[in-house]
Amino acid sequence: LKRNTRDKMQFIYNIKNSESQYTVEQIQEAIDAFKNSVRFDFIKTLDDKSLISSTLEIYEQFKDRTNFVQVGIGGSSLGPEMLIKAIKRTDKNFYFLNNIDTDHTVETLKSFDIKDSIFYVVSKSGGTAETMAQMAIITNTLLEKGVKESELSKYFVFCTDPVESSLKDLAQELGIKYLTVPSNVGGRFSVLTPVGLLPALFAGIDIELMNSSASQFANKFIDSDELIKLTQTVLDLHHSGVNETVLMPYSSKLRELSFWFVQLWAESLGKKKGSDRVGLTPIPSYGATDQHSQMQLFMEGPRNKLLFMVHVENCQHELKLTNSFNHSKLKKLNNFSLKNLMDAEFFGTLKALDEQEIPYIHLGIESVSEKSLSELILLFEILTAITGLTLKIDPFDQPGVEAGKIYSFEWLDKSL
Ligand code: PA5
Repeated sequence: LKRNTRDKMQFIYNIKNSESQYTVEQIQEAIDAFKNSVRFDFIKTLDDKSLISSTLEIYEQFKDRTNFVQVGIGGSSLGPEMLIKAIKRTDKNFYFLNNIDTDHTVETLKSFDIKDSIFYVVSKSGGTAETMAQMAIITNTLLEKGVKESELSKYFVFCTDPVESSLKDLAQELGIKYLTVPSNVGGRFSVLTPVGLLPALFAGIDIELMNSSASQFANKFIDSDELIKLTQTVLDLHHSGVNETVLMPYSSKLRELSFWFVQLWAESLGKKKGSDRVGLTPIPSYGATDQHSQMQLFMEGPRNKLLFMVHVENCQHELKLTNSFNHSKLKKLNNFSLKNLMDAEFFGTLKALDEQEIPYIHLGIESVSEKSLSELILLFEILTAITGLTLKIDPFDQPGVEAGKIYSFEWLDKSL
């Protein structure tokens, strides 16, 4: 198996240069403001050893459980789902209660032994209705199975803000162990805090390697010309009407990276700016599967998309396509491996995108690993922050989701 051993992420731009609307100075100003703000904490805390050791301590107490159930929504679930799908190495079972669908919840809770499980209830704010509702249901199910109220601490671990959180107060009241999400790290930037680190340990992921790789990458990237070039590219294209961003890793294991990216990009960059509205619409995709679906739109639909095309250079296994069938396509495949076919589809698609003059950025990673995944995470988190700050919006808040929450409770009260 021919392996590429390059250890740095590769960036190849296929963008027609036009005069830039955003100066290097404007972007540098946003970077400097970011580095001096409390929002830089999602990078700083990567080096916080106490977060790793408190997570390891909890893991040691519960590591014999067969089932790990993440209970959370948005940033409290999408990051962990991405990590587990990409790098799970143990035979533990993972479940994600990330919605309030009644039938799905009932069927999920029936599908495994809940007494051989740990329920990890994650809510940064400590009061998200969907997550609290799931917790009530899990508690009732445990009580129905004969667990006493005084024994709930054997099944639950919480994760929440260390300062202000009614979930923290509840943990203290019930004697339930809890981990913390640093106060200045928002939900969608929290995957490499205990939010994602505890499930990662159950999956056999090397969390120290993951966070140290992320930190090394982030601290170089934040001062790099690459960050300026990338931000300028995204913003200039946006200015010229390219307002949709596709993330398309050619890997099934990275499929959830696209869904994690959707929340990060949409919730951070879709904002009101005075009387204007700005935003870049994220589109989740993965290859080669979506070549038989969305690719038609990307190639021939409106020219308003920038594609991040992620190529994974090496896989762990080799699958040969050797065969002796009397079939023209199968004969053609005979001398190749499945990975050769994936590469051919990736580079073939890039060539076709070139011909159609669709802007794309080819991101090359060596393999799906702690190092490369954490680098992709930090790449997109930092790019999101700097893009938002250069646009002069706040990429860390989400006022647009508040009204819906208030009206939902109003609706509940009226239906009493
Ligand atoms: O990014 C965010 O802050 C949000 O999407 C949250 O992750 C989501 O609303 C869940 O919030 P919480 O973790 O407070 O329950």
